[in-house]
Amino acid sequence: MTLPVIISCDPGIDDAVALAVAFGSPELKVLAVAATAGNVSLERATANAAALLDLLGVAADFPVYSGAAAPLAGGERIADEPVHGVGGLGGVLLPDSTRSIEPDAVAHMAGLILDRPGEVTLLALGPLTDVGHLFNRFPDTIAAIGQLVIMGGAVFSQGNVTLSAEFNFYADPEAAALVLERGQRIRLVPLDVTRKAVVDRPTATMLAGLPSPAGEIGAMLVDMCNTMVARGRPDGAVMHDPLAAAAVIEQSLITWQAATATVELHGALTRGAVVADVRGVSGREPNIRYGRDVAAANFLTMLTERLKGLGLPGTARPRPARPERETTP
Ligand code: BDR
Ligand code: CA
Repeated sequence: MTLPVIISCDPGIDDAVALAVAFGSPELKVLAVAATAGNVSLERATANAAALLDLLGVAADFPVYSGAAAPLAGGERIADEPVHGVGGLGGVLLPDSTRSIEPDAVAHMAGLILDRPGEVTLLALGPLTDVGHLFNRFPDTIAAIGQLVIMGGAVFSQGNVTLSAEFNFYADPEAAALVLERGQRIRLVPLDVTRKAVVDRPTATMLAGLPSPAGEIGAMLVDMCNTMVARGRPDGAVMHDPLAAAAVIEQSLITWQAATATVELHGALTRGAVVADVRGVSGREPNIRYGRDVAAANFLTMLTERLKGLGLPGTARPRPARPERETTP
């Protein structure tokens, strides 16, 4: 039995690692990959996603779907997230892809979900703009999604863009608010747990020394380790999105806590922040389960094994040569 999954992403180094884990895991069947603006522009996120699928040996006729370029409520998108380095993939220059880029990710997602009511996991690794559009345009999908696994938010943890807000929620707070308000079977993987999921430099370096495609993924992780050192955080590369992907594969990696959660839209210091009730103060039924703790060592073992297995029979196809790469300035 494989679990059918749709991935919405904004690659992004940790999105790239999450894609590698998803395509390298026999437990999952990835039905579609949709790119959205977030860490980088929509155009760059789409090109990166296509190039990553090439790297991972995904069939050439498997397209990338193009999603939202700007937030749900309009206006400018958030600036590029610098932790992802040159081009969004840590300076690793993958060959341009000729893979087909299909428009209207949301309509395609809706078709896949409505074809298999209750079966499809939607894994959201970027701003929730496309999930918001999905709920607005195809409201029947809300009840038909098997589970909605979201990397986003800082529940009782400090934010990473502002003191209170995490990047994916800050990039499109209206979408995050709508999705938490209307979504069902939500598992939120917030900074509270992802900050405990860190690939250290020796592991990144070991991966970078492996044959393609693990080597390129390792090189991205080395670049992120370098960036973190430059920021005074020498512990390594934080695996936000890969932890969410791993939670789809093995839910018990995370300790889940039911909560009634909303997203603040108006506060000068708190726009995009999660406000969560875990004590029943609000009198409202819980609408999410969020990750409160993680078996970090088990996760890192799983991550490393899946990345090492890339290119072996049954996972991804090896590529002969490693592409040229540069380092983040
Ligand atoms: C989230 O923001 C992005 O930088 C990462 O890809 C991840 O999805 C973490 O806050
Ligand atoms: Ca992401």
